[in-house]
Amino acid sequence: MAEGSNLASFERARKSIPGGVDSPVRSFAAVGGVPYTVARGEGPYVWDVEGNRYIDLVQSYGALLLGHSHPAVIEAVIAALRRGSTFGAPTEGEVLLAEAICASVKGCEQVRLVSSGTEAAMSAVRVARGFTGRDRIVKFDGCYHGHADALLAGSGSGVATLGLPGCAGVPAGAVADTLVVPYNEVPVIDEQVGCVIVEPVAANMGIVAPAPGFLEGLRSACDEVGALLVFDEVITGFRLGRGGASAMSGVLPDLWCFGKVIGGGLPVGAFGGRRDVLEVLAPEGPVYQAGTLSGNPLATAAGLAVLESVTDQDYAALSGRVEGFARALKRSISSQGLEVQVPVVGPLVGLFFADEAVTDYAGARASVLNGRYARFFNVMLENGVALAPGPYEAMFPGLAHGQGELDEVVSIAGHAAALVAAEERA
Ligand SMILES: Cc1ncc(COP(=O)(O)O)c(C=O)c1O
Repeated sequence: MAEGSNLASFERARKSIPGGVDSPVRSFAAVGGVPYTVARGEGPYVWDVEGNRYIDLVQSYGALLLGHSHPAVIEAVIAALRRGSTFGAPTEGEVLLAEAICASVKGCEQVRLVSSGTEAAMSAVRVARGFTGRDRIVKFDGCYHGHADALLAGSGSGVATLGLPGCAGVPAGAVADTLVVPYNEVPVIDEQVGCVIVEPVAANMGIVAPAPGFLEGLRSACDEVGALLVFDEVITGFRLGRGGASAMSGVLPDLWCFGKVIGGGLPVGAFGGRRDVLEVLAPEGPVYQAGTLSGNPLATAAGLAVLESVTDQDYAALSGRVEGFARALKRSISSQGLEVQVPVVGPLVGLFFADEAVTDYAGARASVLNGRYARFFNVMLENGVALAPGPYEAMFPGLAHGQGELDEVVSIAGHAAALVAAEERA
């Protein structure tokens, strides 16, 4: 591999990988320039192939809670690897991870492990359709549930960042039964709806908290017509706290989707929920779902190492630290004359260059029209802070980010805001 140059690495990557990236959210299309190619990571930091060090707030889009290269994860994965990497037969690790999830998330009686959040959401919807015998699903504008055909309509994250109106290659028939409605409004639904899927804290259009009564309203609306409520907790699960958004809100869905943190940085997803609902899954029931690497021993070892390392006190301390960080970040940017919103839910932080709070996707979209994020992002990067190269992504400060690193981000953000404001005045 060409060493020592982000440009050379990227140009080489573009020859053999479409767009030079294996996931479009990693591209710099929305912010300009060349993506840095990561050489290694440790704790809150990553280093690129040129040797530049960044305070990393991407953290693999929330897959890492303990930071990069955590010793507990390294040891667990090496020990698992010595026993064999995959078998195609049950292993104890997958049972332990499933038990840890069910013990932590009230109401989640069983889970099946998969290898990504996309698979988790896609499979949860299939289970809901199989259980109810209904095809129609409801999703919310700006929520992202992975890239399964039926769920790509009205998507946030990379689809929003790249300004795609929809997705070519998705047949009209695949989304014909997907109804997209505004976030934070309880839709009127009927007996044709099999499930309502929602990010209980929206984290793919920046961070948008559920309005008071929204999740409760969804629960009642589903109960009235016999539809299932699906919480996509791929981001919020084991990040907001051990019990995720359902524990935080007190609203119990019928099905959950998990991913990211439960894999400790290796590829894992899971969907779970009420035992009577999951009984529709093969081999016991007629809904087919499968995976060669599902419940992979390395991935379950990494996930378990994380879940076992993190205490309730850690979660509380992290949320407290991040709340202070969000307040300080807002102050440092707005004191330079830029209107900014820094929504925070637990340890999840968003950033909107907007003059009022954002409550839905329309508001999120309006906030990015001023184009400030791209300039801000680039100055932050030049000064050693890696944010996601898209304005609809969250920041993921985790347990590896100490007060020192967070203070440094705040100070660099003040400098970046001053530059952006000066350029706009010029
Ligand atoms: C809420 C949510 N659901 C599902 C997914 C898809 O997960 P994956 O990228 O692991 O397929 C994501 C990814 O960011 C997500 O944020």
